[in-house]
Amino acid sequence: LPNYPAPTDDNEGYASFNGPGQLAASEYPAYGDGLSYIEPCLKLTFADGTRTAELEFVTSTVQDDSLTLTLRDAHYPVRLALHYHLHAHDDLLERWVTIYNEGDTAVTIERIFSAQWHVPTGHDYHLRHLVGRWYDEWQLVEEPLTAGTKTLESRRLTTSHHHNPWFTLHRPDQPAAVWFGTLAWSGNWKLTAEVSETKQTRLSLGLNDWDFAWQLGAGETFTTPFALAGYTAEGFAGARRCLHQHIRRHLPHPEQLRPVLYNSWEATMFAVDEPSQKQLAERAAELGVELFVMDDGWFHGRVFDNAGLGDWWPDETKFPHGLQPLIQHVNQLGMQFGLWLEPEMVNPDSELYRAHPDWVIHFPTRPRTPARNQLILNLARPDVQTYLIEKLDALLSQHNIAFIKWDMNRNVSEPGWPNAPADPREIWVRYVQGLYRVWDTLRERHPQVLWQSCSGGGGRADLGILHRADQIWVSDNTNPARRLAMQYGFSQCFPAGTMEAWVTKDEFQTLMGQGDPVHYPLQFRFHVSMMGVLGLGMNLHHLSDAEKAEAQKLIATYKEIRPLVQQGEQFWLVQTETDTAVLYLDESHTEGVLFAFRTFLPEPSAPLRLRLAGLTDTAVYKLEGIGQKTGAEWQATDLALPLGNFESRLLRLTQQPDPLKS
Ligand code: DGJ
Repeated sequence: LPNYPAPTDDNEGYASFNGPGQLAASEYPAYGDGLSYIEPCLKLTFADGTRTAELEFVTSTVQDDSLTLTLRDAHYPVRLALHYHLHAHDDLLERWVTIYNEGDTAVTIERIFSAQWHVPTGHDYHLRHLVGRWYDEWQLVEEPLTAGTKTLESRRLTTSHHHNPWFTLHRPDQPAAVWFGTLAWSGNWKLTAEVSETKQTRLSLGLNDWDFAWQLGAGETFTTPFALAGYTAEGFAGARRCLHQHIRRHLPHPEQLRPVLYNSWEATMFAVDEPSQKQLAERAAELGVELFVMDDGWFHGRVFDNAGLGDWWPDETKFPHGLQPLIQHVNQLGMQFGLWLEPEMVNPDSELYRAHPDWVIHFPTRPRTPARNQLILNLARPDVQTYLIEKLDALLSQHNIAFIKWDMNRNVSEPGWPNAPADPREIWVRYVQGLYRVWDTLRERHPQVLWQSCSGGGGRADLGILHRADQIWVSDNTNPARRLAMQYGFSQCFPAGTMEAWVTKDEFQTLMGQGDPVHYPLQFRFHVSMMGVLGLGMNLHHLSDAEKAEAQKLIATYKEIRPLVQQGEQFWLVQTETDTAVLYLDESHTEGVLFAFRTFLPEPSAPLRLRLAGLTDTAVYKLEGIGQKTGAEWQATDLALPLGNFESRLLRLTQQPDPLKS
């Protein structure tokens, strides 16, 4: 495409088919902005049938690090506040929008994005984003943006395994200059990246307008979730650093180190009961585990996945004396206790569904399509929210529970809301607001609890959920080679302290007929999981004495390096199909830990080559077993690590005292 000059005041388009609205880099375009055919941020319909909005600037106010721009419709009493909050420490800008209906008739909102950004006109850009599916989340892809609109979205009621609202934009000839961002929302979202015929590139992000409408009554307001974005001249590493730093500081428990956990799922599946869990807990404690989490299968009527969801009290056969004896046993073993829940779901075979069949999301004239034998409770309904708050609050009040794994194992099918008080298409937003309300109420009442967000693996990972949950279950796929690629994708946005990673047995890793039948050494599996929040998921009764001793040692090492991993800065030095090397450094860059992996390279194999990064040039660092150099020297040296197939290394890096200072 030819390069058109940027629009100016007297350059109001170059043909009757194009108007200024199309050429201008408008901050928050509404549908109705004159001759504008671009992706708008706002689409309104007024009570008289007018379907456009004309926004005029009214005023701006600045307070500390916040800016508010006020806009008003030229004709109707509708006001908009564009909010900006600068996170100077993280070099990020947060944006969100509030709309006020100051008239006496309702206005229908059909689209309301959180932000639109424009990158310099006239260049070719590449978009990076994350793609996946259940069992194979977090694949990083990069593609050129060409004329037209690229859309990424979720229509699944939740963030989804398939796409994530994280993105970067860069020019292929200038990879160090990166624009990046994400959205704090755990429901349907939409990203549009549009390249116009005048070679302007703009990217919008916000709530998905698919099947969405919101009646904004007289005197009412609506606020969007926030988008967070930045620009860095330090490439993808710079973008990761800003996001990691920011997310880490805004987690519910930012300072707290995450415990090493054991999870029962892969060992016992649904067949949990008091004796089996007590025995597993004993084995876990011997290894140095700090948190014992009982997964699915513990509640009323839960024998397999076809019954019980919704009935959140202990199954009378499996736990005849309730959960207390198990929890006390776990606590006596010196561990904390955690529990699995899937609050948003119900099995048709449950007491809850028999009592309230109308509580699920459905259309009365359509079948209620089950997935994994379950239906979704309509969390847009206040009565459903109240039920969940009461049941789960009682569970948490009556037991010493330190951790909840909050799971969600299906996406929506028939998104109906019979007898909705307003437009039933509000369900997409009101469901997520209801979810946040339930979660926030429980968090306020039980502030000590750590929460994990899981959705059949990594189906719900976003900044909205990370204001509630401290950590995320990345994927149900625990094959260590697949995990390395997924951890790379996940780490583009999320810090290692949120990345829960379990060591499991080989047989589970190939359970789904996926992944290769390779037996990864225990150390390799541990090292992969030690790059995040370490967990164990294998059947501990199957470990040999030698494996137990090795696991004990590796867990002890993890506890030493945990502050670096969970709270340090992460540098991806190498990521190819066969080789991975990642360095974690503490805040002052005086101490670090290097992980290196080789999955498979046909013989004759070459050493893994890497260069350290992030070091202070003049300081002297010792890399365990390799040598001692200044930061500048290390960063200019190709380090050749001899690694065979399926081998891994964990090497400690320490800054040496300055001889001139001693
Ligand atoms: C899906 C999760 O990802 C698994 O870890 C496990 O908790 C199962 N659900 C239990 O049903």
